[in-house]
Amino acid sequence: MRYNAGGAGLTGSEENPLVSVVIPTFNEAEVIERTIAEVSAILKREGIEYEIIVVDDNSPDGTWRIVEEVSKRDPRVRLYRRIGARGLSTAILDGIKFAKGKYVVVMDADLQHPPRYLPQLIRKALNEGYEIVVASRYARGGGVAGWSRLRLMISKGATLLAKLLVKGARKTSDPMSGFFLVRRDLVLSRIEQLRPRGYKVLLEILARIDNARVGEVPYVFEPRRAGKSKLGFKVMLDYIIHVIELSQLAKFAIVGAGGTVVNLAIMYLLLYIAGLGKAVSSIAGIESGLLWNFVFNEVWTFEAGFRKGWLARLAAYHASSAGGFLATFLTMYMLSTYMGVNPILGQFIGILVGFIVNYVASSRGVWRIGGEGQGG
Ligand code: GDD
Ligand code: MN
Repeated sequence: MRYNAGGAGLTGSEENPLVSVVIPTFNEAEVIERTIAEVSAILKREGIEYEIIVVDDNSPDGTWRIVEEVSKRDPRVRLYRRIGARGLSTAILDGIKFAKGKYVVVMDADLQHPPRYLPQLIRKALNEGYEIVVASRYARGGGVAGWSRLRLMISKGATLLAKLLVKGARKTSDPMSGFFLVRRDLVLSRIEQLRPRGYKVLLEILARIDNARVGEVPYVFEPRRAGKSKLGFKVMLDYIIHVIELSQLAKFAIVGAGGTVVNLAIMYLLLYIAGLGKAVSSIAGIESGLLWNFVFNEVWTFEAGFRKGWLARLAAYHASSAGGFLATFLTMYMLSTYMGVNPILGQFIGILVGFIVNYVASSRGVWRIGGEGQGG
């Protein structure tokens, strides 16, 4: 069986390959030639029309020079040398834009993503109509070779976090995989929405393109044979920020934590410094927190940026927060009046009671997320 897109046979149709293999590199001089050779051999053997695009960030070890030489001999190999740019996710997206294939497979240069899985990924898309196919370490039959228990725990914890917070991530057992296939037109159609950061471009794609049909193929992540991993502490920190950015619920909670501090601080000032009554202080605190929350949810959580209709959203936010407002005030009032609880502590407990009510109400009513929203 041949899998060519244009039907022009194996040679001479670099114009419209079925598959573009995008390989990002930074300092992979030791291994890149071998990787290109293995990928080429497998795809040729299967009769798949392909091109290989190496996106190199001007590696100091001269990876790009090696690729340039190979590309002179083999027209299916193309080099995209980025000067003055650095970053795995942007390199991958640039490679996808540069590619011509119907499908793009993204894989690492260091052979930790073994090229022998390529035909399965491609076949899965072709025969079963998937738009994204993930090579998964955590599907049955997949795995990781030679990882410490700690590294495995970190990876699994990070995967769990992504699945909890990002709806699109739940479609695969390995949303953090760096080895996957995607239809190029699908990515291009959403390219404006994609905000590549850090390492996890698949997670970004799954989050922003949440109606894609996603399949997976199990694979075993091999130990690195040459060169060094670029994944360090900063990459992990970036990841956590990335997941938060993709999750409206996490952003909403962070904004709410800030609003809580504002609420309590204002109440404290009015009650103890200005000497006002607890009811007035409580209500002024709640309203201050509400305004704080509105501004940051408008700008950050739901990314509406005070676009047209913000006054109506402000009004709707107040309406949908009315239950939480009342719950906070009544909790504070009851606890402090009848149970001798300090009013500030009572207010704090009241805020917790009101939080869930508020999230449900405003996600349904004000910003209308939940149905087709990105986050979970
Ligand atoms: N162009 C470019 N620019 N390439 C980069 C950069 C960069 O800034 N940083 C890393 N790369 C390339 C590396 O040369 C390698 O080909 C690939 O990206 C992955 O980098 P590694 O440093 O080897 O990552 P890893 O092995 O720790 O993790 C990989 O596998 C995991 C499991 O699939 C990554 O692909 C992870 O995203 C993935 O979760
Ligand atoms: Mn690697």
